[in-house]
Amino acid sequence: MSDETPNSVTMQKDGEVAVIIVNNPPVNALSWHVREGLKTHFEAALADDGVKAIVLRCDGATFIAGADISEFGKPPRGPDFNAVLNMIEAAAKPVVAAIHGTALGGGLETALVCHYRVAVPSAKLGVPEVKLGLLPGAGGTQRLPRVVGVEAAATMTSLGDPVPAPKAKEMGLVDELAGEDSLAADAIAFARARIADGPRPTREREVFGDVAAIEQLKAKNAKRWRGFEAPYANLACVEAATRLPFDEGLAFERQEFMKLMMGSQSAAQRHIFFAERQAAKIDGLPKDIKLRDVKKVGIIGAGTMGGGIMMNFLQKGIPCTIVEMQQEALDRGLGVVRKNYDASAAKGRFKPEQVESMMGLITPSLELEALADCDLIIEAVYENMDVKKEIFGKLDKIAKPGAILASNTSYLDVNEIAASTSRPGDVLGMHFFSPANVMKLLEVVRGDKTADDVLATAMATGKKIGKVAVVAGVCHGFIGNRMLAPRQIEAQKLLLEGATPAQVDKVHVDFGMPMGPFQMSDLAGVDIGWHRDPNRIESIRDALCAEGRWGQKKQAGFYDYDDKRNPSESPRVAEIIEEFRQKAGVEKREISDQEIVERTLYPMVNEGALILEEGKAQRASDIDVVWIYGYGWPVYRGGPMFWAGLEGTDKIAAALEKHGFEVAPLLKEKAAAKAGF
Ligand code: 3HC
Repeated sequence: MSDETPNSVTMQKDGEVAVIIVNNPPVNALSWHVREGLKTHFEAALADDGVKAIVLRCDGATFIAGADISEFGKPPRGPDFNAVLNMIEAAAKPVVAAIHGTALGGGLETALVCHYRVAVPSAKLGVPEVKLGLLPGAGGTQRLPRVVGVEAAATMTSLGDPVPAPKAKEMGLVDELAGEDSLAADAIAFARARIADGPRPTREREVFGDVAAIEQLKAKNAKRWRGFEAPYANLACVEAATRLPFDEGLAFERQEFMKLMMGSQSAAQRHIFFAERQAAKIDGLPKDIKLRDVKKVGIIGAGTMGGGIMMNFLQKGIPCTIVEMQQEALDRGLGVVRKNYDASAAKGRFKPEQVESMMGLITPSLELEALADCDLIIEAVYENMDVKKEIFGKLDKIAKPGAILASNTSYLDVNEIAASTSRPGDVLGMHFFSPANVMKLLEVVRGDKTADDVLATAMATGKKIGKVAVVAGVCHGFIGNRMLAPRQIEAQKLLLEGATPAQVDKVHVDFGMPMGPFQMSDLAGVDIGWHRDPNRIESIRDALCAEGRWGQKKQAGFYDYDDKRNPSESPRVAEIIEEFRQKAGVEKREISDQEIVERTLYPMVNEGALILEEGKAQRASDIDVVWIYGYGWPVYRGGPMFWAGLEGTDKIAAALEKHGFEVAPLLKEKAAAKAGF
């Protein structure tokens, strides 16, 4: 070991048992110095005749949580991971992994070369590499089928979900459950008892189970895995384990791992892993800023958004007061919440008594005064500035000092809303995405006067209720909807020029989006934001709305729908488009799929560049997080700003210019340097 090596692995002895301890906070990732430390100490323990068995355990919050992802793509340093693992597996003395917290990825692969595994009941074991666009590249796909069988190995690797220790014990992945507070001692005792048995190298065990399980998994998850490479590569490796000798299987796994590692999908997924964690950080704010207490939440509006927002808090045991203007609307709103919870209970997500206790946390009211004791009040009424200002003016008089006043507006000026109170420092936007109890994104909109602790509390509250919160500045539509606008405008123009809604949507779905612009419009409601004057027809959308084609809810929008909401192309919509085309004097032409990409996706990058220039997003990766978690941008493309780097900012800028767009200065700058964001 060199002098500069951090002391991240140490060894102690308990009689004839050597205990090798990893300590590399925060998650004991297998950084180069950990690999070096493991090599050094295992070599020492193996050479020591007084040592008859070895325990590997970790200090801190967790067992090894995987390879050090921040080392990926950098020049290799320290010993090769597979070589270290092979040495441990070949040890002539029994080796026991003592697991607490999470044994993930390379962490579980390390545990798999140990001859035995002991874990506390709260531990979780898994191979989540697939979520990073990868596969377990240190023997995981070859050793797991030898320990848990083909079906479980295929499931664990392709879905990436960790298994709780008690289940892992049933599966044979864990040999013994230790006491929650006595892992170190229990593991030593277990190791001592194995001295007589000797080592049990996993590679020498037989693969078992039915290979048909692999095809069944593929069929079951076809929709979920659309566009993804990694789940299939994981399954190919597990399948290889069923027919190749161990070392050949390992070579196959290595080859597949390298393919994924060099590809753009994994780069994108790793980008999002860090982007998601980065988004929680607020530039310029001390990390330890004192947060305000949020023990009781008020919601104004029991519509779809209000009810959905409230469900997030109830699920975390936080009592909510919900206010509506009419009893009927209140009853209807609470009825929907109950129905949603009952449906989840029927699927086994909640126990019936949990539903009752969550419903019991609600205080319904028809009076804003009922919000006087709430720490956080979220207004979720319809988008009308005057209505919002009136509500905030009243809240100013009702809410207790220090209460946070948030608007769920998706477009409106949060500064103007804040100005209707005498405490603009307490006001900000908390923009949830529909369905608010499901979608993970929360845009936290920071007004000019929003106090730092109010912002930090809103971000922390978002995390607490399971959201990925992103800070946005005040501008029309904030980050997500602002970038959506140019896409929708251009999509409509393309219809006039000759594309069909189905063609535009198909390009987006093939790109990996869950749906295209017109499918989204039909789902959300074509009439959202419509001026509601059937005689004022200035766009194709106005014409659709005037005819009552408001989308799926009316079984007619940009598409026709049958009773089961199956869409079909609409001859009437084609007529409306044709009428408009003639009125506008536009000649119909063939539109290529590439042109649709250039005119609907590239302008989003351009808008994103403007958002960055104006400081409305803290960083490009925050914009990516917004699009991944709020709009279903395919994670394997890393979000619009990351994708711009893959696509080529120079190519994007040139195409935008060709189509007559004004290119954002920041995009021009990146294009000139051929750089990403
Ligand atoms: N490498 C490098 N850094 C990591 C890391 C890893 N494997 N896992 C977590 N971190 C970092 C995070 O970026 C974060 O850093 P920050 O504080 O600077 O933002 C910090 O550790 C704490 O992470 P979380 O905020 O996620 O902490 P939680 O307590 O919420 O979660 C966890 C802990 C469950 C371990 C979670 O971090 C996690 O899921 N990590 C990734 C696990 C994983 O994917 N492992 C497989 C890696 S690939 C691999 O092993 C390849 C091999 O097969 C060859």
